[in-house]
Amino acid sequence: MAELASSAAHVRHGSSIGQPLTRRDGQLKVTGGARYAADNHPPGMLHAALAVSSVARGRVTGLDLEAARAHPGVVAVMTPENRPALAQDPNDKSGPFVFRMELLQDDTVRYVGQPVAVVIAETLEAATEGAALLAPRYAAEPVSTGLEDGEAFVPPAVGVGAPAEVRHGDVEAGLAAAARRVEAVYETPAQYHNAMEPHAVVAAWEGDRLSIDTPSQGLVMAVGRVAGLFGIPPENVEIRSPFLGGGFGSKGAISGPQVLGILAAKLVGRPVKLVLKRDQMYGPVGHRAPTRQTLRLGVDGEGALTALHHHVRTASSRYDDFFEPSGSVSHTLYASPAIATTSDAVRLDSGTPIFMRAPGEASGSIALEGAIDEMAAACGMDPLEFRLRNYAEVEPTSGKPFSSKALRECYAQGAERFGWSGRPLAPRQMRDEDGLLVGWGVGTATFPALMMHGQARAVLRRDGSGLVETGAHDMGQGAWTAFAQIAADSLALPIDQLEFRAGHSGLPDAGIAGGSAHTATAGMAIHGAGADVIARLAELAMTDQRSPLFGAGNAGVVAREGRLVRRDDESRGESYAEILARAGLDEIEGRGTGAMDQAAQEHYAMHAHGAVFAEVKVDPELGQIRATRLVGAFAAGRIINPRLVRSQYYGGMIWGVSFALHEAAVVDRRTGRVMNANLGEYHVPVNADVPSLEAILVDEVDPHVNALGIKGVGEIGITGSAGAVANAVWHATGVRVRRFPIAIEELL
Ligand code: MOS
Repeated sequence: MAELASSAAHVRHGSSIGQPLTRRDGQLKVTGGARYAADNHPPGMLHAALAVSSVARGRVTGLDLEAARAHPGVVAVMTPENRPALAQDPNDKSGPFVFRMELLQDDTVRYVGQPVAVVIAETLEAATEGAALLAPRYAAEPVSTGLEDGEAFVPPAVGVGAPAEVRHGDVEAGLAAAARRVEAVYETPAQYHNAMEPHAVVAAWEGDRLSIDTPSQGLVMAVGRVAGLFGIPPENVEIRSPFLGGGFGSKGAISGPQVLGILAAKLVGRPVKLVLKRDQMYGPVGHRAPTRQTLRLGVDGEGALTALHHHVRTASSRYDDFFEPSGSVSHTLYASPAIATTSDAVRLDSGTPIFMRAPGEASGSIALEGAIDEMAAACGMDPLEFRLRNYAEVEPTSGKPFSSKALRECYAQGAERFGWSGRPLAPRQMRDEDGLLVGWGVGTATFPALMMHGQARAVLRRDGSGLVETGAHDMGQGAWTAFAQIAADSLALPIDQLEFRAGHSGLPDAGIAGGSAHTATAGMAIHGAGADVIARLAELAMTDQRSPLFGAGNAGVVAREGRLVRRDDESRGESYAEILARAGLDEIEGRGTGAMDQAAQEHYAMHAHGAVFAEVKVDPELGQIRATRLVGAFAAGRIINPRLVRSQYYGGMIWGVSFALHEAAVVDRRTGRVMNANLGEYHVPVNADVPSLEAILVDEVDPHVNALGIKGVGEIGITGSAGAVANAVWHATGVRVRRFPIAIEELL
């Protein structure tokens, strides 16, 4: 009967999904009412400050412990000598999301910014001054800081487990047979996530129970890591992480400084708060690795690609592996009988790179889109026409059909809205009324439609209200709002009759908010939990002779606005409350899981797509560049909330502008120091740099990615935009700059 009920009970997509609702947490956030991790001050709390290394390689030979300890207010100084023991070696890497941490194992220094001691004090000021008094002395060694330093090797994998080499067809033969060839080397810099909210932890121990407030993109994963390091059962660890002030990948896995805060609390036996200073975020919490990418393209006489080789040189740290997978976009984007992506890498004396919003896709796409643009120009073709000429009808490297792909519509709608048809083919043809050079560029956007693994719980209560729980945080992207919309529809309740609980590790594991997969993953878990509870309720009713739904059996029942009704006669039914009351139940619960559909993944290539059109203006005398207008058209399956999705696209597009024109960590080649480790000199667009933005949501129905048809929108906006802006700079000036961010001096 349960099976019959679950197949017969069906929830029609209701009225919440698709609504442009404002953020449920918006008011809390703009009024300061939202509590972030560092806002929590348990009684008796002390403050911790890190002392970090100013050299990139060597050993700490001395710390002025006496001076720090003598400071009034300093309670303790934690060094490798007195750091509490861990149950697990932090050098061990036991999984794909587990990275080596510097937790005061020894006196070795591996990068600038590595924690070398933690000072714990009654006040933040005392902790900060105590840390400064330590004045570390070092035995420093020569450092490797650039992609040409040291011996390159082929990494075992790129990203988290992707092959470092993919070959389809014979690239060399394709290049040899080509009527025209382009070879170009593109360089992208190290970039840092720079979330507004620094990594922070407030940790309190009670015996072997640990309670922490800390921002985390994956709460239950963080619990597992912390429990493992401290040798306590996961149920002894409670993490609250309702809101993140940005994560972008750097809060995906728990970082070393967060664990140091927990260790500090253990050392002093009191709650401790540790917040990274801005410059301390340029080292121990990851970054986007620099790349040098060599693109080799061949086309036949008609402008159709005969070969595409995308070689990526990247870097990891000397002590752990994360290799930026920049070649991945070339697997998918353009049709070619021969495609190869290859990687090699060097080891630098830096912190370990990690995922940063569109990891691989962002850096890879600005290079690929540039080289594609160069080839279009070499062929004398309009760059949009060239992209359409090489449109991939199936995924070229795998041969799989796309589960859905409305990229043609993206090109068409974006071009129409932008006014692309008026674009002169040759560069340096357009000026505005002030004499500034005007250029228009296009870039194709793509990002895989991924799913992680997540769970949710749904409850219907006797008063007719509903509850949905999942351990998701809201990182600013509007997850809580989108999830509540899915929850409301899955229970067929108005959203104001629904309680939505999240942000706590004791709730069902929502999986990782990463890979643009969160809405699909936790959303499908919520959808499934709702369907499960409705099915259970339907079973109660259909097996009860007193219910008007008794015997609905094969016809089945459907949920409608807090009621179950017969599918064949919607006037016959009863409310959830009536069913529960008669059964003598206060509530009924259901569970759901969200995960990648393995069969669908085997058969289909699943990606979101988009087309971005950019206008830039360049001062011909000063070389000053401004992005003035971006139009992006994106197709990403079902849109849960168009207001929030548009905001994700805008954010991504601004990141794209940043990638092309602003953003770079400037590393001192002699010392390995990031010289602009602050938000004053690490340039990201401010409002005055942000162009007029328009995001078009192109209709796309994907029957394969998941039952809700969600593809994910968090990262794709960067991928087309960075290339579109760079290509527009070429169109404005006639100068092809292949090193990012584009510098004024390269245009003069
Ligand atoms: Mo994202 S770089 O998967 O947080």
